[in-house]
Amino acid sequence: MFIKKVGWIIVALSLLLALAAAQDQSQDKSGTTVKHVPVKVTSAASGKEMYVSYCAVCHGTDGKGNGPAAGALKVPPTDLAALSKDNGGKFPSLKISAAIRGDANVVAHGTKDMPVWGKLFRDLSQGHEGEVQQRINNLTKYIESLQEK
Ligand code: HEC
Repeated sequence: MFIKKVGWIIVALSLLLALAAAQDQSQDKSGTTVKHVPVKVTSAASGKEMYVSYCAVCHGTDGKGNGPAAGALKVPPTDLAALSKDNGGKFPSLKISAAIRGDANVVAHGTKDMPVWGKLFRDLSQGHEGEVQQRINNLTKYIESLQEK
């Protein structure tokens, strides 16, 4: 029990460090400060819970890119509700799951503003690759459900 507790604290700490490394502490002209908080433990089964906990701060609860931290980023967060519209009416599932995991071009040519979630999820799921995949699949499905008709 004690060991388990310490394990979670270490996981929380390493997630905090990973998130801090993924983004510079930044402040924009309007004075918005992005604070880094430990990543909350969520259920891999709920795309919505993960989205609200991890993504809405930048992308907004509706996915349109107007979350409270958006103003402090150098690059505006992608409008996730327009992904289908921008792709000829078809939701680009593979591209989006790759972008979340962090092995898509969005990271290679992008900025440091979009965190690399694959590594964070691997820590959160204690290395269980099946659960990491489940997190990414459920997040991708949740984003698909946000598409504007
Ligand atoms: C710290 C702010 C921030 C957080 C938190 C964040 N994002 Fe992003 N996201 C961005 C930014 C900025 C971009 C645009 C990057 C670029 O264009 O280089 C982006 C881009 C993306 C893209 C790329 C879309 C494309 O067309 O390739 C996807 C998908 C995405 N985010 C999903 C997510 C998901 C899912 C989460 C939560 C697990 C999340 N984001 C959390 C800032 C964030």
